[in-house]
Amino acid sequence: MKRPTAYLAGIGKYAPTRILKNADFAAMGIDTTDEWIVQRTGIRERHIADATETNTSMSERAARIAMERAGVQAGEIDVIVLGTASPDRLLPATAVELQAALGAKRAAAFDVMAACSSFLYGLIVAEGLMQSGAAETCLVVGTEKLSSIVDWKDRSTCVLFGDGAGAAILKRSRGGRGILSTFFRSDGTLAELLWRPGGGAALPFDEQVLQDRSFYIKMEGREVFRHAVRSMTEATDRALDGAKLTGADIDLLIPHQANMRIIEATAKHAAIPMEKVFVNVDRYGNTSSASVAIALEEAQASGRITDGMNVLLVAFGAGFTWASLVIRF
Ligand code: UT7
Repeated sequence: MKRPTAYLAGIGKYAPTRILKNADFAAMGIDTTDEWIVQRTGIRERHIADATETNTSMSERAARIAMERAGVQAGEIDVIVLGTASPDRLLPATAVELQAALGAKRAAAFDVMAACSSFLYGLIVAEGLMQSGAAETCLVVGTEKLSSIVDWKDRSTCVLFGDGAGAAILKRSRGGRGILSTFFRSDGTLAELLWRPGGGAALPFDEQVLQDRSFYIKMEGREVFRHAVRSMTEATDRALDGAKLTGADIDLLIPHQANMRIIEATAKHAAIPMEKVFVNVDRYGNTSSASVAIALEEAQASGRITDGMNVLLVAFGAGFTWASLVIRF
């Protein structure tokens, strides 16, 4: 196990106040039931941004809370790494809009696009920049306005996703706490199982894209499910190995919140009992890049994480991408 370079000095989150419950889909003309959604996913409700809320505004609110908790001013931030699959614009990066909103004048700001693994990828990138000496204080954000990119006519996806943002300030470690191990991988051969085929440079936005609705999220749910379980179990093993720990040493597992059945399978594989697993998929749905960040904030704010605890983060998403970290708080 290496000596930790970076620790999470402050964590914040923001979720839109508007809540969409499973029962509300019927009134929207979507052929689904509360029973189907709860049984297949564990989701009961999700937060949905209003027209005025953007990734920039949501992540600004999350970041300001993280900064206050870490005692960090905007001018002290060296790097902003923002993960999102639903950027406010295709150009420039949402990270620079956040930088401007925060007034983080010294920062270099850029987006990472690793779908649901983005927040974990962001932590790993930021830690690497701190190890190299390029940065001392980093802001890592996961944010999504997925309601703007889901197809509200496709019941197999629109019931799954939600909006929100989470943020963490990374500072240089002291006293052995911080990121103990990291692992990340990708497999681009499987990209078409979960993607937005149209609207980018390969298939620019035009009448056809509009007609095919190919700029919205398309997912082969059952196949994605299979890969999610396999990859998240691999990732938990690799992060535990890296930290020279076993499931028994983990005080809290915070997995990506996509589906209760995937969460249970991941915990079972790592021999971590469900009492040591943080779950909020019932109240947020799948918020992709924001998922683990929001869960981390809720776990800490509710007292589930205390000093000295070993916390395992694990995620899987479009790409495919998967990642994990063990962090000592
Ligand atoms: O975040 C990144 C990664 N994403 C994930 O991890 C998601 C992984 N996948 C999943 O969580 C699950 O595959 C889903 C929740 C998306 C779907 O659950 P499933 O048990 O795999 O169901 P399915 O896609 O195989 O569909 C079963 C049936 C189908 O009907 P038939 O063909 O059996 O008659 C669907 O048409 O359920 C139907 N169905 C629905 N019924 C009611 C699909 N969506 C709905 C719906 N309401 N919303």
